[in-house]
Amino acid sequence: MNVTAPFKADIIKYVDEIDSNIKQTENINTIINNNGKLVGTNTDYYGIKKYLNDNKINIKNKTCLIIGAGSTAKTISIITKDAKSVVIVNRKKSKAKKIADEYNYYVGEFTDINEIWFEWADIIFYTIPININDVITHKDNNKKILNINYNFNKSYFGKNLLINQGYYAFKKFFPEYDPYIDFFKHGFNNNIQKNNITLIGYMGAGKSECGKQLAKSIGYTFIDLDVEIEKFSKVSIDKIFESNGEKYFRSTERSRLEKILKKDNQVISCGGGVVLHNKDLLQTTNCVWLYCNLEKSYNRIKGDPRRPLLSDYTAFIELFNKRKRMYLSSSDIIINSDNSILKIVDKIIDEININTN
Ligand code: S3P
Repeated sequence: MNVTAPFKADIIKYVDEIDSNIKQTENINTIINNNGKLVGTNTDYYGIKKYLNDNKINIKNKTCLIIGAGSTAKTISIITKDAKSVVIVNRKKSKAKKIADEYNYYVGEFTDINEIWFEWADIIFYTIPININDVITHKDNNKKILNINYNFNKSYFGKNLLINQGYYAFKKFFPEYDPYIDFFKHGFNNNIQKNNITLIGYMGAGKSECGKQLAKSIGYTFIDLDVEIEKFSKVSIDKIFESNGEKYFRSTERSRLEKILKKDNQVISCGGGVVLHNKDLLQTTNCVWLYCNLEKSYNRIKGDPRRPLLSDYTAFIELFNKRKRMYLSSSDIIINSDNSILKIVDKIIDEININTN
């Protein structure tokens, strides 16, 4: 199984053993069931090492600057243990200090990146989710800046790291094969352009609110699938359930979605049950699963008479549990919607390849 942010640290408590090379990262992204024993590893570590190796970057005699102090920075910190000297900077200095104390690194000021540390460092590991040009203002092409953002359109290194870590995860899952790395690269190049964005997720996750803001930010048309169903049926969702039943609702939901997807450049907020019958359609879109803490979602919407499938909290959880695998398998990315709308929207824009032409 592969795990990604924001669960790389939380998942540790569920495994029996951790790969000793990456123990200090306190983050895992791959879990293997070894004859009943769950072993966690972090293939980012191996992916970064492979990149350095393939590009003949020997960090032993190099000065390194790590920008950021999150999970990726922790992984880098193990790799830079052999470097000549390491400085770590982060917006929240105390987080950088924690890592620095562990490895005996120096903590710098975030505000000194351009004034001091850029010149000083031979290699810069950039690990924070902010556009790199907003933080590093120098334009020195000879400087080795390794921008570890998985947003592969923006970062050559990020793309290679994503490929490399996938390669190691594959090797863990299928130890009998030695995969051909170009096969993974090919997968990227074949990435089809998806021109609509669908927001899926359980009731109360904030799909409509985020959808409106996202559409506004990127100049797309906003569509609320439930509203389209109501317009078509000329009655409210709860009345459709009451008079025609769920089966009719689901078939209308599918036919409306099919129709909407004939156009491009739309953000479509879908009802919580869209994943039941429409995985094929959702996969033609950039499908974002908005995940929110269930108690929060429930408190947001409890007592809303317009939600026919909403009853008590136990039933709410049960229905989610039945659906969670469908959300997972239909979506391209998961975004934690337990945040301000603007932050969620920024995160979505950062994570997906949006065609705004
Ligand atoms: C449903 C969720 C609702 C609506 C309908 C069915 C579901 O949308 O489509 O009541 O099956 O979870 P929201 O997710 O916006 O509440």
